This record gives sequence, C-alpha cells and structure tokens, in this order.
Amino acid sequence: MGEINFLMFPNKEQASKYAANKIYNVFGELKSDETMILGTATGQSPVLLYQYLKELVDESDWWKRESQYITFRQLDNYVSPGSSKDNLPPYSYQRELEESIWQIPNAGTMIPKEYEDPSKECARYAEEVNLSTQNADYIVQILGIGDNDGHIAFNMPGDAFDSTVHIVKLNEETRQSNANKFFNGDIAKVPKEAITMGVGDICKSDFIILLAFGKKKADILWKAFFQPPTTDVPASALQNFEGDLFVLLDPESASTIIQKEGEESIIEIEMVDDDEEWWLYTDIDDDEENFYDDDEEYDDEDFFDDDDYFDGYESDDE
Ligand code: GLP
Repeated sequence: MGEINFLMFPNKEQASKYAANKIYNVFGELKSDETMILGTATGQSPVLLYQYLKELVDESDWWKRESQYITFRQLDNYVSPGSSKDNLPPYSYQRELEESIWQIPNAGTMIPKEYEDPSKECARYAEEVNLSTQNADYIVQILGIGDNDGHIAFNMPGDAFDSTVHIVKLNEETRQSNANKFFNGDIAKVPKEAITMGVGDICKSDFIILLAFGKKKADILWKAFFQPPTTDVPASALQNFEGDLFVLLDPESASTIIQKEGEESIIEIEMVDDDEEWWLYTDIDDDEENFYDDDEEYDDEDFFDDDDYFDGYESDDE
C-alpha cells in the first residue's frame, strides 16, 4: 500500500500553492518524452490550484515546450439532455475547465460530453479512459471530496471500489450540496444524472492529491481515512490506494482528525509567506531536458525532496 500524507497548511492559498508546485515538479521529473495524465476535478476545492498552476506555467518556457506530453482528463460531467455542443448548459464542467485549467498549454483534453447520448458516451469514455491509462507513463489525479457522503468524482455511496466509467443517479445529498454551491440553492436545476470515472479507475493513478478545505469537510475526512473502508463512504477506498496520496487540509478541515486522532496524525506546513517567492523554488532550468537527472546543481537544493521541504517550512509549533 502507498503512503497517505495528511498535510495541514495555514490556509487554502498555501495548500493550493503547494499542490501547484507538486504537480509542476512531478511533470518536471519525467523523462523528456514520457507522457503524463493530469486528472482534473471540478468544484470549489481545486480553483486556486488551477490559478497557481497557470501562474507557474505562464513563467515557464519549459512547460510550454513540454506541454505536448501532458493530457488533462476530467473525472466526471453531468448528463444534460437538451444541451448541444454549441449550447452548453451554464453549469457545464467543460465550460468550467475551458475557463480555468484548460487554458494551460496541454496535449489534449478528455471529458465525458454532457450533450451526447448518455449510454453511448459512457461506453466511449470508458474506452478512452482505459486506453489513456494503459498508455500514460504517469498519472496524477486531483480530487475533491463530497461534503457529507464522501463521494469522489460522482461515485455515490454504494458504488463498488472496483467500478469503472459509469452513469450515476445523483443522490439527494449531492444534488442539494451542489445546488447550494452552484445553482443558487435550487435543487430542481441540478441534473439528475452524471457520467463518472469509477473508483477503480481513480485508484489506477500513480499519485493523488486530494484537496479539502473548510469545516464542512472535517467529519467526512475523518470517516473516510480513520474508519474502516466501506463503500458507504467512497473516498475510504483511497485507504487501499497503492500509489502516494497527499491530503491537503486547512485548520478547519483538519479539525476532526486532530480532535479524534491527535495532532501527530497531521504534518503542519507553513510555506514562505512572501508571495513574490513561492514559485521561485520551481524554476526549471530551460537548458535541462530532465531537470532532476544527473544534475548536480539541483541535487544540492532538491527542494521537493519532501524531507528537505518540511525541514525548511515546518511551522514553529511542530
Ligand atoms: C462535485 C464533483 C466532485 C467534487 C465535489 C466537491 O460533486 N463532482 O468532483 O469533488 O463536488 O466539490 P467542492 O470541491 O466544491 O466541495
């Protein structure tokens, strides 16, 4: 089994900067012709991460040159009868991604399309997900978590841990929570179905970053990671994930875990406070194709070797 790292930052801004750095550097560690899938999630949790990743990329000729090797693969999308390619609904995940992370240079984007016939689109996406998983050299998955039921992507409680791309009927809780966040509280406007990658697909990633901020995530995080895994809480499948999992928290979302499991279950991190400097550590030398390999200069200050990183930036209370 892989390692689960619970990292608590002073706020979601710092957590998101850390996540952006992590992704940028994972990509930088690949050999020059290796491909990476960056699995994207929608919702509020990754919004700042996408913004910061774009800031990094805007400074980076290196990424622009290597972007032909990175594909963005979306976890899920609503099914939206009556919409069309040229008339996407206002809540369209495609629209949301086009306005954020898809603006970052990339080799391609993958998403289940809300306007196609659901069962045909589900079969097409299942094939696309399988093929891309087989062909990618490295898969990084970004995840959020459902506030009350612990859903990941749109896998509802009860979905099997080995599930693949499928159509889901969204439960009342998820629809109400999404209505509050994105539909002015009007549950009638929230679609009733979605196409989602399965828990099994998600667990084929090499590396997962789960972002969860605010009090409303606190209890479900504890249930998902500190209680026995159960399909009633889809995120609890991640306890058996074989790759590395980083759960990035703020003090509010970490509160139940700290209360029930003690402070030692969480690593506290405080990054440099200076906005001007947070991204400097990721400066990838444009002359280096593969910046970590055989590179004395970077070996000395391998900032993203986690131990060094924590040494430098752990909070004083540690
Ligand atoms: C939706 C998405 C999930 C997301 C979840 C939490 O249901 N399908 O991928 O993780 O909401 O969203 P938020 O990050 O806004 O709390």
